[in-house]
Parts: sequence; structure tokens; C-alpha cells
Amino acid sequence: MEKDIPVAEEINQSEALYPDLFRRIDPAAVPAHVGVIMDGNGRWANRRAFPRIRGHREGVHSVDEVVASAREVGVRVLTLYAFSMENWRRPKMEIQALMSLLREYIVKKLPVMHQHGIRFRTIGRAGDLPLNTRKLLRKAEQETAAYDGLVLNLALSYGGRTEIVDAVRSLVQDAADGKIGPEQVDEALLSARMYTADVPDPDLIIRTSGEHRTSNFLLWQSAYTELYFTPTFWPDFKRREFLEAIVDFQGRERRFGLTGKQLKPSR
Ligand code: IPE
Ligand code: IPE
Ligand code: MG
Repeated sequence: MEKDIPVAEEINQSEALYPDLFRRIDPAAVPAHVGVIMDGNGRWANRRAFPRIRGHREGVHSVDEVVASAREVGVRVLTLYAFSMENWRRPKMEIQALMSLLREYIVKKLPVMHQHGIRFRTIGRAGDLPLNTRKLLRKAEQETAAYDGLVLNLALSYGGRTEIVDAVRSLVQDAADGKIGPEQVDEALLSARMYTADVPDPDLIIRTSGEHRTSNFLLWQSAYTELYFTPTFWPDFKRREFLEAIVDFQGRERRFGLTGKQLKPSR
């Protein structure tokens, strides 16, 4: 019998474009949660004598490719660091341009999220964002809430320390209300107050642009995360590089404090 020819969107592009790389990925050991610090848009633009915003705009194509390849390899949660607490200190013009790019992205991609069953979420102090942006984000979150495909998590007005402060505040409030005592405060309770309470901690965090720091990203959650750094600027980070990062991750030995022998007694 003749096989159905899949329509273009249903083709696994990662496999079709990079068969050798794709074959090296063990589907049973794909990181469940990948975080990405999308850095280097400004420098990418500078090198070409373009305004910085052109770099941000170009970076959206990388977002598209990374979201698609994450789905294609079977990542469950993808958290993209799009705007940090510290980024509020940038020139107003750049912040406005970023917010408008974000709105444009949501409007354009919401149908794609429906098509692929992507669940859209945000983490961070949403209250800091402009009202029209907030409304759009909420709409996307609500409309996609029931999907169980990839969780696309955008970190916006996000700071790891702020997140921990918010979590501690809520615990202190509960203590003041007599709901909890000091002996009940443990790691699990604190984890449950983080923005990421219902998703696993990131297995892998990728940072582009050659910087070797985490810039306040998922501080609490990344205690045992594997870190992957690449000199590539974000607008040049596409499917192939994402697949390479997954392959690299799969070559790591995650010991969580144990000895190698404890992990593999046969050694
Ligand atoms: C990352 O690119 C995007 C955001 C932080 C919003 P940058 O804008 O930080 O680019 P560089 O680091 O200046 O090259
Ligand atoms: C980190 O990039 C934040 C995001 C990617 C959103 P930055 O460019 O803001 O980080 P620093 O200032 O170089 O540490
Ligand atoms: Mg930067």
C-alpha cells in the first residue's frame, strides 16, 4: 500500500535536514527541560552595521527554529530567556522595540501554537510589562492551556533572585497567617513557590554569544543543570546548533554527587 505523503509542516525537519546528527540523538535520553539564554543579538547587528533591533528581529527566526527542533527531538519544556529584570535598564527605545516585537511574535505564532498543540506560558513579573503586551500574553496562555505538546515558557521581566524573593515572601506570609511553621520549610516547599512549580528543573541550559555566565536565569532551578556555551550569536543559532547541543548533553555524565562507580557498578 502506498504510504501517505506528509504535508510540509508534518515533516521532521531536524531529521530531514540533519539525518546524521539526528541519528546520534538517543530519544530515551532527551533533556525534558531545556533553557536558553538567547544572547548576542546586539553584537550580531553591530558587526553588520545594523541597528540593534535588527538583531532582535533576526533572533525571532532562531526562536522559530529552536521551538520546532525542540518539538522534533521530544523536549517537553523549553524556557527561553527573552527579557531580564536587568534589561529594564536599557534605553527606552530598545525596550519599546522589544515589547513590540514580542507582541508581533505572539499574534503571528498563536495559530502555529494551536496547530501544533504548544502550550504557551510566561514566567517573571508579568505586572511590569505594558498592559497591551500583558493582555496578549494572557490570551495566548489561556487559549493554549489545555495542550499537552511542548511547553513554551518565555521568561519575561524575569530575574532568578526576584523569583526567590517572591517565593520567600509568600512563605513568610503563610507563616504570619499561622499556616506553616519553620520546620515545614524545605526544598520541596520552596520549589513549589517558584514560577516553575509544575515543570521539572532544567536538564540543560544553553547560552549563546560566548558569555560564560547565567545572568540571573533560573538560579534556584539550575543547581544541577548541565550548561552549554557556544560563541554563536543568537541570530545564527539555528536547528543544527540546537541538535549539536542535545548531542553534547547526551555525552555528559550527570553524577549528582555520586561516584562514577555508584552510577555504573560494572566499571
Ligand atoms: C539578547 O541580545 C537579547 C536580550 C537581552 C533582550 P542582546 O541584546 O543582549 O545582545 P548583545 O549581548 O548586546 O550582543
Ligand atoms: C541575558 O542577556 C538576558 C537575556 C538573554 C534576556 P544580557 O545581555 O542581558 O546579559 P548580560 O548583561 O550580558 O549579563
Ligand atoms: Mg547581551
